[in-house]
Amino acid sequence: MTSTQGTPQRAESVPGPAQSTRSEQSADPGPLELGLPSTVRDPELPARVRIHEVGARDGLQNEKALVPVEVKAEFIARLAAAGLRTVEATSFVHPKWVPQLADAEQLLPQIIGLREEYPGLRLPVLVPNERGLDRALARGADEIAVFASATETFARRNLNRSVAEVMEMFRPVVGRAGEAGVPSRGYLSMCFGDPWEGPVPPRQVVDAGLQLLDMGCAELSLGDTIGVATPGQVAALLAEFDRAGVPVERLAVHFHDTYGQALANTLAALRCGVTVVDSSAGGLGGCPYAKSATGNLATEDLVWMLHGLGIETGVDLPVLVATSVWLAGELGRPSPSRAVQALAGPAD
Ligand code: HMG
Ligand code: MG
Repeated sequence: MTSTQGTPQRAESVPGPAQSTRSEQSADPGPLELGLPSTVRDPELPARVRIHEVGARDGLQNEKALVPVEVKAEFIARLAAAGLRTVEATSFVHPKWVPQLADAEQLLPQIIGLREEYPGLRLPVLVPNERGLDRALARGADEIAVFASATETFARRNLNRSVAEVMEMFRPVVGRAGEAGVPSRGYLSMCFGDPWEGPVPPRQVVDAGLQLLDMGCAELSLGDTIGVATPGQVAALLAEFDRAGVPVERLAVHFHDTYGQALANTLAALRCGVTVVDSSAGGLGGCPYAKSATGNLATEDLVWMLHGLGIETGVDLPVLVATSVWLAGELGRPSPSRAVQALAGPAD
């Protein structure tokens, strides 16, 4: 057992009502003063995980109220300041399909300077088609993501096309992006279960995933869009990709937390060698075209577990919690993240 990870500090830097609630209870210093979480390194697990933060895109695309563009820009700046180095910023989809992100053109120029401030910061954006690619490139995007579905029903509902038509739509997008030196990530939704079609056979997921990789996506993110997966399924799907010859280094996992399985599923993926995990600050998230999708795995919950396992993330947990507390204030409702609630305390 080795203790390799700096432990989070007491949440003094976390603003808001939580601070006064904690400081009044001086007899009970709370867990952070004790230096929790204790670190117990598991040599079977990776030494470092790259967190692909999706709160500003997956999280805010699902908000009922429109969030002002300045708030989005500040959210992204705070995420970068918290040490996150891949911050998915927005989507260049049809503004009528996702009105919450219709301000993508205004947002990108406000955040692009962060790439100089934080060397290595990546700000990918979602792009569904060539029209979206043109819009994204015109605003200086230097990394994109396309998003397909393993199932026909969700492909139709989310992109108004069959799975085959979706792949044909993406092929020139990924090709042209590559020619412009812009790397593409491929998302694949409904990898474990679909609200209309039920369980999804792993082979069907692999077949769709291979199409995204073969067309040039550098990375494939496996989405549990409605949060129904359990750890055995995760291991089985990753084994199916392994049998198909896909290196685990090209895979990422994207769990929504509907049934509280996202952390357990992440641990199962780490045990299979995955080192890229998608999550959203404060546990924001969902998909407007899959009603049963709830929030993503909360980044704070993920970081608590990873740091406890001695896995480096580069994230400053108190700064991240402060960000989610601030955003919860802007959105007018508390964060669903258990770690945010524990570290920031209850709202008055
Ligand atoms: P469509 O209605 O089939 O569009 O929608 P179309 O191709 O027939 O074009 C119709 C008109 O829209 C045309 O204009 C186009 O130019 C315009 P007209 O010629 O009639 O004047 N148009 C656009 N305008 C602006 N930006 C564009 C664009 N594209 C076409 N990009 C479309 C097809 C793909 C546009 C639509 O289905 C769409 O935007 N869907 C996006 C849905 C979405 O964003 N869902 C959430 C993200 S996915 C997700 O959250 C899952 C994930 O998190 C992983 C997981 O959890 O599993 C990634
Ligand atoms: Mg998602």
